[in-house]
Amino acid sequence: MIENIEKRVIEKLGHHPKRLKHVYGVAETAQKLAIIYHESVDKAKIAGLFHDIAKYDTLEEKLNMMDLRWMKVYADYPVIYHAIAAANILEHEFKVHDPDILNAIRYHVWGRKGMSTLEKIIFVADSCEPNRGFEDSDYVYELATKDLDRAVCYCMEQSIKHVESKGLSPSEEQIEIYQYYLEVTRGETE
Ligand SMILES: [Fe+2]
Repeated sequence: MIENIEKRVIEKLGHHPKRLKHVYGVAETAQKLAIIYHESVDKAKIAGLFHDIAKYDTLEEKLNMMDLRWMKVYADYPVIYHAIAAANILEHEFKVHDPDILNAIRYHVWGRKGMSTLEKIIFVADSCEPNRGFEDSDYVYELATKDLDRAVCYCMEQSIKHVESKGLSPSEEQIEIYQYYLEVTRGETE
């Protein structure tokens, strides 16, 4: 099954070589972290490869892959649509029903409160895979190998700063999730 999923990813992102390199980077980084945290390497690979599959779909294509509930939830933040659509494509096309894989894809942009280990791995790997060229990718990866929650928190902080640097306001949901992980790292939750 992984071979078919991989084929589909190459077929879809083949015209976007930088993006294709990125998803391979996420898959590889996620697999390394999966070994460290005793998670399934196959699940990490699937989620990593598939998370951005809908990135270049038109709005209409993405909406076709979503039900009304999700459309409404993120109506003001269509940046999230590619993640929701990707999870739905994987579920419908490849009959992958594993909630861990689907949630890792669905919530890879902002994360969510109470993420599983695999979800955290994909969230962090998306930021620190080496091909993306972020200055702090080594630092984030090292941090992730030692303390996944702190790495999650760091990535969320960077993402919020990035939004603010463009003169935009992060969503209330994104801020709440970040605050939740700040509390987690302080030992106040979970
Ligand atoms: Fe990504």
